[in-house]
Amino acid sequence: MSSTTPALGLVCLLVFLQGSFTAQAQAGDYVELCNLTSSIAVDLTQFSGIWWEVARQPAGKDFCTEVNITVLPNQVQDNVLIDTTYGVSPDYPWVNQTMNATLTVENITVAQDGFNFTYWNPPGYTPYAVYKILYTDYTDATFICGYTNQTDNSTSFGMILTRDRTPTTDALNKLQSFAFGLSSNFLNGTMPVITQGESFVLSSCYASSGASTIVSMLLIALAFFLGLSADRQII
Ligand SMILES: *[C@@H]1O[C@H](CO)[C@@H](O)[C@H](O)[C@H]1NC(C)=O
Ligand SMILES: *[C@@H]1O[C@H](CO)[C@@H](O)[C@H](O)[C@H]1NC(C)=O
Ligand SMILES: *[C@@H]1O[C@H](CO)[C@@H](O)[C@H](O)[C@H]1NC(C)=O
Ligand SMILES: *[C@@H]1O[C@H](CO)[C@@H](O)[C@H](O)[C@H]1NC(C)=O
Ligand SMILES: *[C@@H]1O[C@H](CO)[C@@H](O)[C@H](O)[C@H]1NC(C)=O
Ligand SMILES: *[C@@H]1O[C@H](CO)[C@@H](O)[C@H](O)[C@H]1NC(C)=O
Ligand SMILES: *[C@@H]1O[C@H](CO)[C@@H](O)[C@H](O)[C@H]1NC(C)=O
Ligand SMILES: *[C@@H]1O[C@H](CO)[C@@H](O)[C@H](O)[C@H]1NC(C)=O
Ligand SMILES: *[C@@H]1O[C@H](CO)[C@@H](O)[C@H](O)[C@H]1NC(C)=O
Repeated sequence: MSSTTPALGLVCLLVFLQGSFTAQAQAGDYVELCNLTSSIAVDLTQFSGIWWEVARQPAGKDFCTEVNITVLPNQVQDNVLIDTTYGVSPDYPWVNQTMNATLTVENITVAQDGFNFTYWNPPGYTPYAVYKILYTDYTDATFICGYTNQTDNSTSFGMILTRDRTPTTDALNKLQSFAFGLSSNFLNGTMPVITQGESFVLSSCYASSGASTIVSMLLIALAFFLGLSADRQII
């Protein structure tokens, strides 16, 4: 990927999100296999902070997923902390679990093989998975591809992270279209969308502190009543 691409893409995406996008990602940027590309150079300071996982292909089990990236300044080794928080069960979306990872990432440097790390939530952990950042504009969206098993290319996935927790359907479609033009890991308009709703709707995500016990009990009863387990990826 040429070094001018991210800047060009940034302009495109910003225009894109404002609804008047006409250009496409350049033909040469298209990635057939995630393994055939590198993770782009990112400014860690700008990349840090909260991202929400809004779409993933193929669908995962997680939902209400928040990714919190912290960069420790003036530290070379183990300088990036990632806390990923997600809902435990669609029936109890307000109960969270956090998995953590620590890795070494060089600022503004291409990572040829991407990032290979393990998420921990002792005593459990997910063994080494590979993640590559294909594109980010820092302020709106990030596109990531990877392998949940680094030696098995049938475990390839694509993921869209956004700063906005609940982008509109229109914005999501535009992001998917953009991502689809970037890599075979994405689908155009048909990616499984990840529940990120914050309102008081069944199967949405919200802070338990904001929900009174009575309301929580009511929702549990309702969920029970409706046998709410059919679809984790409601949107
Ligand atoms: C990364 O580099 C950018 C540009 O030089 C700089 O503004 C930023 O502070 C650096 N971040 C870290 C964590 O070194
Ligand atoms: C993100 O993680 C950092 C480091 O663990 C923590 O200080 C910060 O409060 C977290 N932010 C949120 C919004 O959870
Ligand atoms: C991933 O990291 C582990 C531990 O450092 C190492 O054993 C493995 O070879 C790495 N895999 C790749 C593809 O870099
Ligand atoms: C992960 O990070 C969160 C937030 O910083 C912290 O509350 C939690 O204890 C950490 N979990 C593990 C398993 O280290
Ligand atoms: C990863 O894939 C390889 C090759 O298919 C397989 O041998 C290995 O057991 C897999 N590892 C895990 C943790 O599933
Ligand atoms: C990706 O490429 C590396 C190095 O060529 C190889 O070791 C690894 O098995 C490949 N992974 C997949 C999932 O194809
Ligand atoms: C897996 O890798 C092989 C060899 O690199 C390639 O021929 C094949 O198309 C890949 N399969 C998938 C599903 O990516
Ligand atoms: C995605 O689908 C939309 C609507 O069908 C279409 O306008 C757009 O050109 C497609 N994007 C790509 C990259 O093919
Ligand atoms: C659970 O995590 C979500 C973000 O995924 C957050 O909005 C909510 O406040 C968290 N709830 C608790 C109880 O920590």
